[in-house]
This record gives sequence, structure tokens and C-alpha cells, in this order.
Amino acid sequence: MKDRISELLEEVSKMSAENADQLEALRIKYLSKKGEISSLFNDFKNVAAEQKREIGGLLNELKTKATERIAEMKAEFDAQQAKADAPDVTRTPDPIEVGTRHPLSLVKNEIVDIFSRIGFSIAEGPEVEDDWHVFSALNFPPEHPARDMQDTFFITREPDVLLRTHTSSVQSRVMTSQQPPIRVLCPGRVYRNEAISYRAHCFFHQVEGLYIDKNISFADLKQALLYFAKEMFGEQTQIRLRPSYFPFTEPSAEMDISCNICGGEGCAFCKNTGWVEILGCGMVDPAVLEACGIDSKVYSGYAFGLGVERITNLKYRVKDLRMFSENDVRFLDQFKSAF
Ligand code: DAH
Repeated sequence: MKDRISELLEEVSKMSAENADQLEALRIKYLSKKGEISSLFNDFKNVAAEQKREIGGLLNELKTKATERIAEMKAEFDAQQAKADAPDVTRTPDPIEVGTRHPLSLVKNEIVDIFSRIGFSIAEGPEVEDDWHVFSALNFPPEHPARDMQDTFFITREPDVLLRTHTSSVQSRVMTSQQPPIRVLCPGRVYRNEAISYRAHCFFHQVEGLYIDKNISFADLKQALLYFAKEMFGEQTQIRLRPSYFPFTEPSAEMDISCNICGGEGCAFCKNTGWVEILGCGMVDPAVLEACGIDSKVYSGYAFGLGVERITNLKYRVKDLRMFSENDVRFLDQFKSAF
């Protein structure tokens, strides 16, 4: 028996397993009820009395060694398994589907960014407006066609509540709530009662600019707009101001830029003129300043209003205005690379 015990002691000290199954087989072989060690314990009763002490000690030593060695190997396998189950932080993550900014937002953000660099801050106003802020304060005569239901969406009449037809309404809001110096940019959505086609929509977007201070002149307006045109369309861009009429500015002008599609050579987009109109502007009419509580003898200022869809067309050549509001992912996806 003693020999068998030393043999097993030797075996147990060398035992090894490559996986949990092999380890379990070892446990069964040595430690289960019918295993090698248990059967030695069963035979123990046959050991002569004077040897019992020594053999008993050896047997216990064998059992402890086997139990410890198996527990040790099990701990190793458990640790390996835990490691394998842990999340792999070095794995390349699943690509996340990133959304895209709407092209009109991209262009609006760029316009805001350009003007913010020369000191303009943002002002916003409501889309549902009253007649005074959209028309009366801005010097529209009572019989002006814009006040007609055919051009403007009215929500109620008397008192007139309507969807603003232009972001110039934010001018009247800013001027009645603060004194100059005022230098604001007012981006927003506007509504007009127009039949929807590739070139007209019942809603679109504008950015209004307003600068009121002492000694503001038309030259300041022209410089600001030239700077904008070059920043937006490139250094080579030229501007042209044509006399025009708006009730709220005097003098008024419309601004063209040299067509950035053909470089001024003449193409279908600019109808072979080499120029495309991008905005309306002028010196704020003193009557508007007075209506809004600003002293027109002390202050003067300029204003301009540009259409975001128009600028977006020029930048991204979107031919059909309806694309902007149809939510077609095939269209919107194309702006993924833009920031
Ligand atoms: N509000 C005008 C429009 O909707 C655009 C405009 C023209 C705004 C001249 C201005 C301006 O501030 O000075 O057509």
C-alpha cells in the first residue's frame, strides 16, 4: 500500500490538464467516490494496526495534495475563462450611422459664421407674428399687396395674426426692445402663399442682417456685403448693386454676385448674364427707426435680407427647391461629408 501511495503522490504532483474537461476527468480519477484515493481509504481497514498511523498520515497527505492541485488548476481555468468572457476593449467598434446636417442648416450656419466674424450676433423672433411687426413697423402702406391674403397666410383677421413673410419682422422686434448699437443676424423660416413648384415654395428660409449705430453709411453696407460674398463664394467673387425698392429701406438695392457656376461667362443658371441676384438691402428708412423708438437724427443703419435656399442652390446646385422639404434620405445623405 505504501508503494501505491508514493506512486500516486508522484502522479498527483505531475498531473496537468489542458482544459476543464481533462481536469474534471482527473478529479473523477482520483477524488470521486470510486476514485483511486477513495479506494485506498476503503482498503485502509486492512492495514495492520502498527502501520495505521504511518499509512494514515501518508493517505491524508495524498488526498490533500490531490485536492489542492486540482483546486489550483481549476482556479487557473476559471481565470482564463473570465478573461475570455470580458469585453475586448481593443476591438474596432461597430460603425455608428452618423446623421447628416440638412443642407439649408449647413449654409445657414456658414452665413452666421461669416457675419459673426465681423461682430454680428443672433436674434430670433416668432414665425407666427402680428401685422405690426411684419408690415406696419416696416413702413408697408395699408394697401400694399403683401398684406393681401393671396400673398400672406393669415391665421386670424382683426386683429391680424399671420405667418411672417420675411425675417425683417425680427428687425422691428429687436429695435423696439433695445437701443443702438445693434448688430444682429436673424435667421429663420418664412411663409408665403405661393403655389409649390421647383422654383417656389410656401415656406423658405432667410437670414436678415441689421446694423444700427451712429454714422453708419451705405459704404459700410457695401463693404460688409463684399466681405460676405468673398467669404461665401471665394476671393474672385464680384458684387453688383442695383437700385431697387423696399418699403423699409431708403435707398434700397438688390445685390448680384458674379455667377459662381460659370465664373461670370454666362450659363443657364445666370441666364447668360454672368450675374445672380442673392439679396435685398438698403439703409433703414428713418420712418422705420422712429416707429420702433430709435432717434433717426442720431442713428442710422443698414439692413439686408438673403434667401438661404438661393445661396444653397449656388453652393450645391440643388435644382429643385422641393428637395429641401421632402426628407429624401438619398438627397440628404449626399451632405455627409460636409461639416
Ligand atoms: N424682406 C425682404 C424680402 O423678404 C428682403 C430684404 C430686402 C430684407 C431688403 C432687408 C432689406 O433687410 O434691406 O424680400
